Amino acid sequence: MQITQLNLSDDIIDLGVGQPDPSLLPLAVLSQAATHRLTQPDASLLQYGMEQGNEYFRRSLAQLLSDGYGVSVEPDRLFITAGATSGLDLVCTRFTKPGDTVFVEEPTYFLALRLFADRRLNVVGLPTDENGLVVGALEEKLSEIRPAFLYTVPTFHNPSGVTLTASRREHLARLSEQYGFYVVADEVYHLLAYTTVPPPPMVSYDASGTVISLGSFSKILAPGLRLGWIQTAPDIIHRLTHSGLLLSGGGMNPFTSAVVQSAIELGLQQNHLSRLIHIYRQRSADLEAALHENLSGSATFKNPGGGFFYWLRLPNDINATALRKEAKKKGGQFSTGH
Ligand SMILES: Cc1ncc(COP(=O)(O)O)c(C=O)c1O
Repeated sequence: MQITQLNLSDDIIDLGVGQPDPSLLPLAVLSQAATHRLTQPDASLLQYGMEQGNEYFRRSLAQLLSDGYGVSVEPDRLFITAGATSGLDLVCTRFTKPGDTVFVEEPTYFLALRLFADRRLNVVGLPTDENGLVVGALEEKLSEIRPAFLYTVPTFHNPSGVTLTASRREHLARLSEQYGFYVVADEVYHLLAYTTVPPPPMVSYDASGTVISLGSFSKILAPGLRLGWIQTAPDIIHRLTHSGLLLSGGGMNPFTSAVVQSAIELGLQQNHLSRLIHIYRQRSADLEAALHENLSGSATFKNPGGGFFYWLRLPNDINATALRKEAKKKGGQFSTGH
């Protein structure tokens, strides 16, 4: 059976999908934020929303991100989405046509590949190492093919856990300007830093308006909210807002945005994120200790320092697919390399 976000069974611990632990979903936070918002005499959150996303919400979000990233984020450069997946889908609508090529890292987030398949895009993989995408190999590839965009998960990568170094980020941004392709950076794990401080998001390296950064509340609040953002240059935002989807339906999730705005203003979002980081840091340390105890000398691994994923390299004589079947019998599941 193919793994998706939904077909997970309750009696299996699945280390291969990017889902929060159900016990960490913040019902009380959302209840408090919703009460705060719904007791204000302002029904505008129930109306069609501004295409780019509510301005007050974008201001609150910009402040949250500026604090979290350690670099200034401007509200005018934010566009509200229904999650990173929705942002990526809209980017495909507006910036590709069937048959176009997109570059991805090898390995990459497996469900992004499904989305590119839906769009009939031609996917070309690029090598990665312990510092993320090998940007030198990208440069060589660019002399053969020019992609519509390159999709990357630069920080705490799904599934490999690696983080792209600052110098490679600079190089990648320069190449996108020089060769005229977009970099779509899926930064959903950036704010979940436990022991590593990552370089600023990919979009901070953008000098010429070629980087499109995808963010999400799925990993820092709750995936059921279906709320996220794109941070990018104004002309790209203009192109996104002038899509049929937005012109007909208005901005995405105005109701949820308004509730989450209260969560940010009341400090609840920041408290929740701090709590998540505290808990995940401990779990990550426990996993690291268990790996050292049970697998050192056989598998090789490196602590990712944040995010949801730990990548193991198995010895050559171990078949990952067979091992996965054995793990499942014992109540554990993981993803194999693609
Ligand atoms: C790299 C990556 N991008 C996107 C998503 C999904 O994000 P969203 O819920 O915001 O659509 C996930 C979730 O697993 C992910 O790991």
